[in-house]
Amino acid sequence: MAKSIGFKKKNTAIFISGNGSNLENLIKFSLNEKSPIQIKFVVSNKKKAKGLRYPKNFNIDFKVYSFVNKSKSENRILKDLRKKKINLICLAGFMKILSKNFIKKFGYKILNIHPSLLPKYKGLNTHKRVIENNEKYSGCTVHYVSSRLDSGKIILQKKVRIKKKENHKKLAKRILHQEHILYPKAIMKIFNL
Ligand code: GAR
Repeated sequence: MAKSIGFKKKNTAIFISGNGSNLENLIKFSLNEKSPIQIKFVVSNKKKAKGLRYPKNFNIDFKVYSFVNKSKSENRILKDLRKKKINLICLAGFMKILSKNFIKKFGYKILNIHPSLLPKYKGLNTHKRVIENNEKYSGCTVHYVSSRLDSGKIILQKKVRIKKKENHKKLAKRILHQEHILYPKAIMKIFNL
């Protein structure tokens, strides 16, 4: 039983497609007494997503939706979210774009983390494009999800200076580390904590 902390934790679902390092980080964050979230459900569009080991290890419900038919998958997800009384979604490396219809029907906050200083470098292969363009800085952003790709209102950003001759893999690793700090901070911020 969670200790009484003066507020009810939000029933949260995390959506993933891959490694799930942000998922692991958010699970650990959620276990902190002061965290405003409890993770009740993990959604993946990939059966073989490595990140699925975390809900297994932490005994959290999870489900895979194929997205072969996007609207069918979205409707199934909505039904499951309702059953589980989910009132916050955190996208964490989820590589599908949720439809306007899904966002509207869900009706609660949806957050995403993106590995760039939005509005710059939306989309895929961010770090590669940043290095190719000889940028001095990159970083990561937590934002609300809107129906346009990587475009909702920004909650928090962390700027990272790019080192001389740094390759995109090393940059990705350093930024991922910053993502793990930023996402919990952004969640605390939206709940005024
Ligand atoms: C993270 O870098 C996240 O910002 C990025 O995918 C990676 C997932 O890593 N998300 C996007 O690019 C979304 N547009 P993880 O699976 O180890 O958390």
